[in-house]
Amino acid sequence: MENKKHGFGSALGFILAAAGSAVGLGNLWAFPYKVSQNGGAAFVLVYIACVVLIGCIVMMAEIYLGKRGKANTVSAYKKVNKNLGFFGVIAIIIPTVIVCYYCVLGGWTLRYAVNSFQPNDALSNANSFANFTSNPIMPIAFTFIFMAITAVIIMGGIKNGIERAAKFLMPILFLIVVFIAIFSLFLGDGVKDGLNFYLNPDFKELGFNGVLAAMGQAFFSLSIGMGTLISYGSYTGKEIKVGKSTFMICLFDSLVALLAGLAIFSSLGALQPDSLQEAHGVGLVYQILPQVFEKMGGFGSVISLLFFIMVVIAALTSVISILEVSVQFICQRYKKKRKSVTIIMAVICFLVSVPITWSVGGAFDGKIILFGYDLLTFLDEIANTVLMPVCAMGACIAIGWFIDKKVRFNPMKTLRALEKDGLELGFFGKIFAVMVKYVAPLVIGVVVVMGIVGKYAEYMLKGLNYSYIVGGALILIAIAVIVYFMFFENKDTGDNHTEEIVESK
Ligand code: PHE
Repeated sequence: MENKKHGFGSALGFILAAAGSAVGLGNLWAFPYKVSQNGGAAFVLVYIACVVLIGCIVMMAEIYLGKRGKANTVSAYKKVNKNLGFFGVIAIIIPTVIVCYYCVLGGWTLRYAVNSFQPNDALSNANSFANFTSNPIMPIAFTFIFMAITAVIIMGGIKNGIERAAKFLMPILFLIVVFIAIFSLFLGDGVKDGLNFYLNPDFKELGFNGVLAAMGQAFFSLSIGMGTLISYGSYTGKEIKVGKSTFMICLFDSLVALLAGLAIFSSLGALQPDSLQEAHGVGLVYQILPQVFEKMGGFGSVISLLFFIMVVIAALTSVISILEVSVQFICQRYKKKRKSVTIIMAVICFLVSVPITWSVGGAFDGKIILFGYDLLTFLDEIANTVLMPVCAMGACIAIGWFIDKKVRFNPMKTLRALEKDGLELGFFGKIFAVMVKYVAPLVIGVVVVMGIVGKYAEYMLKGLNYSYIVGGALILIAIAVIVYFMFFENKDTGDNHTEEIVESK
């Protein structure tokens, strides 16, 4: 009963909200260019393998961790084993760090969406992007608006805020991406070249680095290893099947990524083939695509508007999920109302985002630089290369080794313990047990180590020392561990029921 009032109202609502978290800038601007740079369809195959073999497993572990705990990430881990609670603190730190820079990018997307209404003032040349981002005030104003919309939705609560927004926005996003993908297939002869550039399989080009990139991309894109799925999972009840929901979320996420790539590369091939090589990241979305839209003629401004609405929706539903993690924890731990906590957290994250905006945009001649890195890159590397995999591993270890009170090496016995605990997986259970206990933690461990080694080499070429990133991440982990054992281990850290009581007062 209570769950119905405060948690997700339906399985579909949960799936759409989680898909909203997963589908983000990672799908729309990172996936397409990573495919094109790492061996086309070969990368796609490896990516799908990563999603199916590791991504799904971690996602199921996280959703289940939340679902069984019915609480914020710290309490959810504590309910498995008190000594694991620090993973819950890491799982709050990561999304809170990410929010601070992701909302900067969200603000930019908002600026471009608004701009589509004024075709004469098109931001279509490269300079206008630089002008916009290096302006000390404008990007901050848009980030503020973006953050305010996020906060209003979270203040509405899970069912009336987050679920309602997802149910409204996600179908729109999907329709837009399908429409633009189909539209761009008919742009002319060059479409073939664009698609060829995008998907032509080349296993040599893929290499080991490509495999690492695919794994990293799968993690970021599926929103795993950052607490969001534990948090959303905690608001689900019996109506949600963990396996089936995971399948739907992963399918939706991968489909949107592939379609976005299809749309972007067919349009580039047809209208601006010279830019194919440099089509990546920020430049792709904010500099190259606006030029391409302009070349579409009369239709261009409509497609541009639709495209940027889609990017705003993708970014918004992701930021909602990352801010929710800390809001949920603070509401429950300190018995405060959701509305006030949301406002406080949104304001703090917004304030942190201001120097980040100046750092990436180059206002004040790019003086805000940390050890040679702009703040966005610095925080993004800390979160993605080290913290996220650590957190994902935490979920696998908790589910694979600690639900069963006895330490058992036989995964079939673990499976029985999991089933007794309430996880229903049917025939897929055996595979899950082996994967979550052994394969996933091992693969993640290898990926972290290899990933860090690769990054050292990559940043050395740019004259930067990657030790600052690794050091920064280790400091955050240490802080999480200390804070947990000092302040939270023996305190009541609350759960969803606490939140209901506080809200009903
Ligand atoms: N998965 C989102 C994307 O693809 C980003 C995200 C990261 C969302 C972390 C939630 C948590 O862009």
